[in-house]
Amino acid sequence: MDRIRIDSTNALASSVGEEHGIGPSELASLEKPSRAALAAVLGRRERDLRWLDLPQQAAVHEAILDYAASVQGRFENVVVLGIGGSALGNIALQTALNSPYHNLHLPAGLPRLFVLDNIDPDLVGEFLDGFDPGTTLFNVISKSGTTAETMSQFLIFREALIARLGEAEHREHVVVTTDERAGVLREIVNREGYASFAVPDGVGGRYSVLSPVGLLSSALVGIDIKGLVAGAAAMADACTSGDLAENPALHYAGLQWLMQSRKKKPISVTFAYSHRLASLADWYAQLLAESLGKRRSRAGADVFAGPTPVRAVGVTDQHSQVQLYTEGPFDKWFTILAVDDSDHTVTIPRAYEDLEGVAYLGGRTMNELFQAEREGTRIALTEARRPNVSIHFPSVTPHVVGQYLYLMELAVAVMGEHYGVDAFDQPGVEAGKIAAYALMGRKGYEKRRAEIERGRGGATP
Ligand code: PA5
Repeated sequence: MDRIRIDSTNALASSVGEEHGIGPSELASLEKPSRAALAAVLGRRERDLRWLDLPQQAAVHEAILDYAASVQGRFENVVVLGIGGSALGNIALQTALNSPYHNLHLPAGLPRLFVLDNIDPDLVGEFLDGFDPGTTLFNVISKSGTTAETMSQFLIFREALIARLGEAEHREHVVVTTDERAGVLREIVNREGYASFAVPDGVGGRYSVLSPVGLLSSALVGIDIKGLVAGAAAMADACTSGDLAENPALHYAGLQWLMQSRKKKPISVTFAYSHRLASLADWYAQLLAESLGKRRSRAGADVFAGPTPVRAVGVTDQHSQVQLYTEGPFDKWFTILAVDDSDHTVTIPRAYEDLEGVAYLGGRTMNELFQAEREGTRIALTEARRPNVSIHFPSVTPHVVGQYLYLMELAVAVMGEHYGVDAFDQPGVEAGKIAAYALMGRKGYEKRRAEIERGRGGATP
């Protein structure tokens, strides 16, 4: 079985020196806390961290595949309406597991996929102008079922569907993913009779990619969701040991904690050396930022905790960021996502053999060049004493991507224990949502609106 492999040699003091790299005693100091952290996280599996069990939900996976089969060939477009944890996983899976040109060169019988994770009127308006709702299926995704961005999009596209298809038929063009019971979106599903899937209790937005939130749109565009969840399940099995050296989630979580707490590196760069993995780095950025970026510790003290995630793509960002990474402040550590085997081999033709500046490329492959550039960056970072780890994807398959998703989710949950914060709430996001409701005049938020107006001299948008 192809397994993800973490190589952390270049994050160690033996590679980048004691000031920036982790020494054996520092790693050893984490053994007990890591064991305790894992027990604390896994101990909540039955109670409130139900995302740990998502790979085992075979009946849900079958229901998703049945729905996808029932609509196959009926739609030219699938549009996800969602934001944050209700969109980033969908984008990451599509980018990783379908062709970058999927929407241009559609495989037979499959629809295009669009994820409208913004309410910029130019994004939504352009879509309204250009697409026929009559050939489009909308997957409305909101765990809370109240998010203003998603609900406003839903209202707009529902109206367009009804105008084009009529009240009854429009219902065939909507499938909703939301909480099983709570929220206005569930109430709407009940009234309209839309097809729907549930985001189970204990599955927060950024931990929901392996639920119907991420799996439904993936199945609709032909991604092997069984392979994905099998990979996640395999990683769950590989992460049961309390031993730091054996459990990759404990290992990665420990590195993150030591890099920030001991090595003064508040910035965590995920450097995806793969176009296909670039959006996984975006997905991870949200997972890390929303889970650990917290004002208060679990004990209630002000801690203002959290690493700052940064996402870079190789080789593109070699020509943009690497100057800063190798010579700028020592405030970052790096996770290189490396793909060992690409699906394609692209050969560079021989030409201009008398011109050494290009002649050396002729007859080599782009694969060799890509790997050489990745290795070049790794070597440059290490020689500049910038700690870096490499996560090796043997290839980019559903199984391996499923492994990565589960690995990172569990690692971040464990990081929450090291940082002493609640990795599963998002009061900062909620605060912004509440302020927006107040500014939009939503009933029940009058007091907040008055407070805001007082604070800004009575100005309204
Ligand atoms: O991770 C999270 O909890 C958030 O990013 C949510 O996913 C985001 O705010 C959207 O929320 P909802 O799915 O409730 O519409």
